[in-house]
Amino acid sequence: MERRINNEIFIGDALAALKRVPDEIFNCCVTSPPYYGLRDYGAEGQIGQEETPEEYIQNLVLIFREIRRTLRKDGVLWVVIADSYSGSGKGRVADGTNCKGVSMSRKYQGITEGRLKKAKTSCKNKDLIGIPWLLAFALRADGWFLRQDIIWQKTNSMPESVRDRCVRSHEYIFMLSKSKKYYFDWDAIKEPCVNTTDREPKFRRKRDVWSMPTAGFRGAHFAAFPEQLAKTCILATCPVGGVVVDPFLGSGTTGKVAKDNGRCFVGIEINKEYAIIAAERTKTELCNNCKHNTRDFVCSAHCGGCNGTSKFEQRKERDEK
Ligand SMILES: C[S@@+](CC[C@H](N)C(=O)[O-])C[C@H]1O[C@@H](n2cnc3c(N)ncnc32)[C@H](O)[C@@H]1O
Repeated sequence: MERRINNEIFIGDALAALKRVPDEIFNCCVTSPPYYGLRDYGAEGQIGQEETPEEYIQNLVLIFREIRRTLRKDGVLWVVIADSYSGSGKGRVADGTNCKGVSMSRKYQGITEGRLKKAKTSCKNKDLIGIPWLLAFALRADGWFLRQDIIWQKTNSMPESVRDRCVRSHEYIFMLSKSKKYYFDWDAIKEPCVNTTDREPKFRRKRDVWSMPTAGFRGAHFAAFPEQLAKTCILATCPVGGVVVDPFLGSGTTGKVAKDNGRCFVGIEINKEYAIIAAERTKTELCNNCKHNTRDFVCSAHCGGCNGTSKFEQRKERDEK
């Protein structure tokens, strides 16, 4: 059945929600999964709390397999992912510093010290696990074309009090495609040349190290990525009017940037409070049923209680009558 795609936010588990989405409807996916063993997002079924890195990677492979099915043949997946150290299991913030020094004043900052389990891994304490590349290789083995690793250099990374290694200031962004050939608008993301005279070109093709500060928007979500990052991915791999999906929507950065740039979005978020933040930020109303019943996905476009139409559409339909 032909479905209209509207800006939609599902509240619930990404795998369950994606299973209800028809094949080949999204142009691209821009997402950052929860980091392994670093945060407790306070929702049953959340990713990142698995006992072993292998289980974590396998869960992500299953979710991204559904993303591959729901992407168009020329679709692209962008995954922003950071590494984790094998250690106490007490949890760290994105830059690897322990939670202890971090303000816990906000209830939904997504950091809970104590609930995070110590990972069962063959790594020794203090070993870097290598999560980004474990995931990249697992996705490649599952059928994705692993096209590029991009370094997101955080220009304002958090300080760390470490004295036996350098302060971490980067994350990986992996670009993977469903097919050998795919939609990629290099011209839309070209960057200024560094040293240029009047006679030389002012712009060049985008390089694979992206220097950007961490997100300006924090709201009540601790791990939002910068709008500029999402914008680069969306402009390159989703034409105007196309649809972007983010199975780990968080505070809704992907959705906001998609909307601001004339694209549609579908977002999935397991934590109801974050989904509500994302809905406010993207000016997307959640239907009452979605808001109150976090598990009920009945149709692919929305929850069942609204017959697949969002509040906005319901209102529009009412107004048009
Ligand atoms: C790193 S954050 C995403 C942040 C987002 N990119 C932003 O800019 O706000 C990962 C999100 O995934 C959500 N999450 C965890 N497990 C999930 C699952 N199984 N299904 C859907 N969302 C999940 C968490 O609640 C968290 O908000």
